[in-house]
Amino acid sequence: MQHIFQKGDDPSKPTFLLLHGTGGTEQDLLPLAGEIDKEANVLSVRGNVAENGMPRFFKRLAEGVFDEADLITRTTELNEFLDEAAEEHGFDRDNIVAVGYSNGANIAGSLLFHYQHALRAAILHHPMVPRRGIELPDLSGKNVFIGAGTNDPICSAEESEDLKSLLENAGARVELHWENMGHQLSMGEVKAAAEWYNNL
Ligand code: MLT
Repeated sequence: MQHIFQKGDDPSKPTFLLLHGTGGTEQDLLPLAGEIDKEANVLSVRGNVAENGMPRFFKRLAEGVFDEADLITRTTELNEFLDEAAEEHGFDRDNIVAVGYSNGANIAGSLLFHYQHALRAAILHHPMVPRRGIELPDLSGKNVFIGAGTNDPICSAEESEDLKSLLENAGARVELHWENMGHQLSMGEVKAAAEWYNNL
């Protein structure tokens, strides 16, 4: 997958897996990594799907309606890419913290829903529930931050609560942080995520 890798100064620190929103690129979230932890590695990936030229991580049938078969295929593809990238760039495969926004948060959520060992933790900005009606892996010991909007037109407050419950029922520790700026990724939310990360 097309990506940027930046080696951090401290090998004990995690690798941030940056996952952009629809129409974004692997450049978009680079400043976020610096806000959270300047010493961590950064692996920023571009989605392999194009929707009218806009990069995404999986296909959708309409806004908010996912192509489930493609979501599953692309989740596997990203998980395998993480194995390869860890080998190629020499980082710890078991210490990846996803940082995703919107469509990128949705594929990060899907990694958690499908693979027990894909991520150590995740910061999900404005995620949806990636799939319903499936059994999640045991996510004990995983930490998840959800940045949600009380008035997010793409993801209802109820869906954000549902995602929290589904992850918690699988054993994850989840912090749900609310803003009221619609689907936007606000600086307040980034700062809250950084504070959460620093208290892990
Ligand atoms: C998605 O398709 O992942 C969500 O609708 C969020 C978006 O990318 O607009």
